[in-house]
Amino acid sequence: MPSPLPDDSSITLTDASFAVAGRQILGGLTLHLTEQRIGIIGRNGSGKSTFLRLVAGLIAPTTGSVKVGGLAPASDRKAMLARIGILFQNPDHQIIFPTVGEELAFGLRQQGLDKAAATVQVQALLARHGRSHWVAQPVTALSQGQRHFLCLLAVLAMQPGTILLDEPFAGLDLPTQARLDRTLASLPQRLILITHDPKALAGYDRVIWLEDGRLRADGPVGPIVAQFTDEMTRLGDVDADTDLTL
Ligand SMILES: Nc1ncnc2c1ncn2[C@@H]1O[C@H](COP(=O)(O)OP(=O)(O)O)[C@@H](O)[C@H]1O
Ligand SMILES: [Mg+2]
Repeated sequence: MPSPLPDDSSITLTDASFAVAGRQILGGLTLHLTEQRIGIIGRNGSGKSTFLRLVAGLIAPTTGSVKVGGLAPASDRKAMLARIGILFQNPDHQIIFPTVGEELAFGLRQQGLDKAAATVQVQALLARHGRSHWVAQPVTALSQGQRHFLCLLAVLAMQPGTILLDEPFAGLDLPTQARLDRTLASLPQRLILITHDPKALAGYDRVIWLEDGRLRADGPVGPIVAQFTDEMTRLGDVDADTDLTL
């Protein structure tokens, strides 16, 4: 089993909210996250991706506070490089560089490595994951599943204590999902995973259910996922779209 994380990796939200143009997207979130495997569930539009962006420091809370190891992730960007990595739902929103090697080296250069040291680490990382032949490949030559895996490698390269994953299985074929699932399960890092698939949460320590940007439930996987599944089934049986306020 992965070893416990040092104290400086705990994530604390205190009455945190996030609003855009006066519209509240997240509200009243108070959470202390210390577990190794945490799932985030909720309907489309419930605020799950916004929650991850808040924890990663890509956005700052409108009110309240978010702390990762005692630091505010939106202001202490540099310190966050070693603490938090985020894997977006769409790899094409994440990849910047034309080749695999350049993409993987970028984060390491940001962490202060010189070009030669970054190259060595990139080669070692690719070799560890059986992908040495990828180093000079153009990113466009990779399939969507491969680009997703490249993004995960880019996060792993930086060795963050916590990895945030936004629906990493969506859009992947079943063998690619299984491979990614195995890779994730073997990681020593803390994972915070958004998923619509209850099976992906097997063995998780805690699940947070968001609804309309608020905490609907928080606790062990079994009862929370059962309650969530019942409610989603009930909504599907009535008319899931009657409550869409567009
Ligand atoms: N930057 C933004 N500007 C305006 N609305 C946003 C922004 N980010 C998120 N939202 C809205 O906030 C709600 C929650 O979005 P999101 O966090 O993506 O939900 P989920 O990931 O659970 O589907 C949605 O209604 C979305 O349209
Ligand atoms: Mg989302």
